This record gives sequence, C-alpha cells and structure tokens, in this order.
Amino acid sequence: MRTTLTITALAVAAAQAQDLNQTIIGCVEVECLAAADNVNDNCSIADTGSFPSIGLTRVPTGNSALSGLSWVKGFNITDANSQRTFHSSFYLGTPPELNLSSSTGACAVFLHGVSGSLSFGQNETAATAEGTCADAMGSSCVDALVSRARTLVDGYSKEDNRPSISDTCARLQKDLEDGKDDACAPINGGDWTNFTGVALTGEGAPQPLSQQQNSSSTCWPVVPKQDELTLISEYHTTGTDLVEDAEKAQWAITPVLTVFYSAGDGSLVTDVDASLSCIKTMGPARASLDTINDGSDDPDSGAATLLLSKSWMPSAMAATIATILISYAV
Ligand SMILES: *[C@@H]1O[C@H](CO)[C@@H](O)[C@H](O)[C@H]1NC(C)=O
Ligand SMILES: *[C@@H]1O[C@H](CO)[C@@H](O)[C@H](O)[C@H]1NC(C)=O
Ligand SMILES: *[C@@H]1O[C@H](CO)[C@@H](O)[C@H](O)[C@H]1NC(C)=O
Ligand SMILES: *[C@@H]1O[C@H](CO)[C@@H](O)[C@H](O)[C@H]1NC(C)=O
Ligand SMILES: *[C@@H]1O[C@H](CO)[C@@H](O)[C@H](O)[C@H]1NC(C)=O
Ligand SMILES: *[C@@H]1O[C@H](CO)[C@@H](O)[C@H](O)[C@H]1NC(C)=O
Ligand SMILES: *[C@@H]1O[C@H](CO)[C@@H](O)[C@H](O)[C@H]1NC(C)=O
Repeated sequence: MRTTLTITALAVAAAQAQDLNQTIIGCVEVECLAAADNVNDNCSIADTGSFPSIGLTRVPTGNSALSGLSWVKGFNITDANSQRTFHSSFYLGTPPELNLSSSTGACAVFLHGVSGSLSFGQNETAATAEGTCADAMGSSCVDALVSRARTLVDGYSKEDNRPSISDTCARLQKDLEDGKDDACAPINGGDWTNFTGVALTGEGAPQPLSQQQNSSSTCWPVVPKQDELTLISEYHTTGTDLVEDAEKAQWAITPVLTVFYSAGDGSLVTDVDASLSCIKTMGPARASLDTINDGSDDPDSGAATLLLSKSWMPSAMAATIATILISYAV
C-alpha cells in the first residue's frame, strides 16, 4: 500500500514538473502536422476527425490523485448542400498512471450555449487569446457554478437509491441548466442552454482510443505524449458562410464543468471535487510558423522569430481562415 502511494506521488510530481507554460496551448506545443497546403495544420486523431485547430488545458484540482488530466478541443468546418457546419470535438487526456475506474464517479458538463458571450477580454486576436474561466466568466460566476455542482452531486449521493454515475451526470446537467446563478448574470449575452452532460466513468462511459486506433493517428494532441485520449463529446452547429461567423466559431470558448465523487471502495476522492475549465482552440498554426522559420536565414534568431511571427500573425490568421474555408468548399 505504502509503496503504491509513493509511486503514485512520484508520478504526480513528475507530471506536474513538466506542466504547461500557458493556460491553453495549441498546435505549436502539441505538435500538429501540417496540412497539404503547408499553411494550415491538420491534426487527425485516429478515426475521430481531422482538425486544423486544437486547444489543450489542464483540469485544475487540489487533489494530487487527479492531477494531470486535460481537456482537449478540436475544431473543423464542413460544407455540404450549401450549409456550413462547425464541429467541435472534446477529448479527455489522462495520464496512464491515473486509474479512473467506476469507483470514482466522474461527470463532464459542457456549457455550450454560454459560449457565444465569452471572451478573454484581451487586446489580442481571438486566435491567440487565452486565460482561465475566471477571466472569461468572472470568478464569482465560476465559484457559484462550482459550489452548486458540488452541493448537487453531494445531495444525489446521499439519497436512499443512489443514482448510477450516468444518472448522476444527466441530473447534474439538467439541474445546472434549470437554475442560472445570479453571479453569472454578467455573461447573459449567451444563452443558458444547450448543456451536455457525459459520464466519464461507469457503465457505458467512453473508452480511451486504443493503441490500434492510435496507430492510425497522425497527431496525438496531448502532452506528455504517453497520456491517453478519450473522445468524450462532439458538438455541431450550423452557420452562415460569413468569414466572421467562421472565425468566431473557430476560437469560441467552451466552459466545461468536471466533477469527481466517490462512487465506491477505491475511489480517488472522498469529497466531491468540482472545477470549471475554459477550453478553446489556439493559434497560430504550427505550419505557418515553420514556413517563417524556413524563410529565415538567421540561425540564432529566437527573438527575431518571435517578432516576425507576431507581426506576421494577422495575415497568417487571415490566410488560415481563408484556406480552411476554401479547402472545405467542394
Ligand atoms: C512554451 O513552450 C514551448 C515549447 O514547449 C515553446 O515552443 C513556446 O514558445 C513556449 N511559449 C511561451 C509563451 O513561452
Ligand atoms: C488531413 O489528414 C487526413 C489523414 O491523413 C487526410 O485524410 C486529410 O485529407 C488531411 N486534410 C487536409 C486538409 O490536409
Ligand atoms: C470534423 O470533425 C468531426 C467531429 O466533430 C468529424 O466527424 C469529421 O470527420 C471532421 N471533418 C473532417 C473533414 O475531418
Ligand atoms: C442550441 O441548440 C439548438 C439546436 O441544436 C440550436 O439551434 C441553437 O442555435 C443552439 N443555441 C446556442 C446558443 O448554442
Ligand atoms: C486595449 O487597447 C485599447 C486601445 O488600443 C486601450 O485603450 C486599452 O487600454 C487596452 N486594454 C488593455 C487591457 O490592454
Ligand atoms: C499514440 O501515438 C503517438 C504517435 O502518433 C505517440 O506519441 C503516443 O505516445 C501514443 N499514445 C498512446 C497512449 O499510445
Ligand atoms: C483501478 O481501480 C480499480 C478500483 O479501485 C481496481 O479494481 C483496478 O484493479 C485498478 N486498475 C489498475 C490497472 O490499477
């Protein structure tokens, strides 16, 4: 027992030591491959989809047994029958040593409808804007949501007929969507609708992409690379053919509530652990930076590259959007 605990503690420390250098990272850091045009990225994750943009953020937790989990978002656009569809796919990244079995109840609730009203409020292009949910929603809204989730899940598990994990997650989604917190009024430009609840553990929970599926991946958008990826949820909306709409959808922020609770012996948590993550895909495209680097003949140009890529970014972004649209317009 003691040995297991020590090994787990070491593994956790190792995972934390190599943590991210910003809250949300994108294709540059997760090392997406270039698309055929060498300007956009193309991250193909097994047979689950190909994405020109990717974002990853760690799930915040005070519980070291849960540390190292990540939310990953992929985004793409398709055109069919003169209708444009924006696709978002959400994956959970899990360190191999983290054993999320059905003893640990776990739910994710995606607050899709709220997305339209959120921004990180920076003077940056939407592509590279990043931050935490406190930046995007206000910390009192975050605290209210997290504490309500904790109280709700605590309440369900004290009932005589303790609900299954999937029922718990479905009820959590519904109860959160049914009652808006006053503290979240400032973000009411978005709709308090279209929440999706998914059980991450228990019967019927989504399973990690297998080694075999992984062998057909050209991209494994998680760090460290040995982490597993599980496709948790997909969300599709239809849009117009306006470039502004596509750009807004591509860099939109999705809040994800992640909740863990004890569902039996061997649970990783005793008290309910709840947190809110804000995930979006991040620019710039890695392929666009490689193009810049190749064109530079200055070998020690760390700073020069940064300057170049900054001033080059707006046109790179415009090119990215334009090319994405062109490549999907059949
Ligand atoms: C973060 O680290 C990656 C390498 O892991 C590096 O390419 C990138 O420039 C760093 N970003 C910042 C903002 O320091
Ligand atoms: C992305 O990669 C997949 C798999 O390799 C390929 O089928 C697809 O055509 C590529 N898309 C682009 C835009 O390069
Ligand atoms: C876009 O993403 C969806 C998943 O959200 C996936 O099913 C689809 O294959 C992707 N489209 C392309 C062209 O890769
Ligand atoms: C919610 O979902 C419905 C049905 O898919 C869609 O028509 C609507 O645009 C969505 N609303 C928001 C704010 O995402
Ligand atoms: C954003 O830019 C505007 C004008 O360029 C400036 O007045 C404002 O102070 C900036 N805000 C931040 C947070 O930097
Ligand atoms: C999946 O494949 C990538 C290479 O494509 C590799 O770096 C990664 O470690 C693999 N992950 C798992 C969990 O097998
Ligand atoms: C994961 O935890 C469950 C429940 O505690 C246990 O039955 C199972 O053997 C563990 N699996 C691994 C690979 O440690």
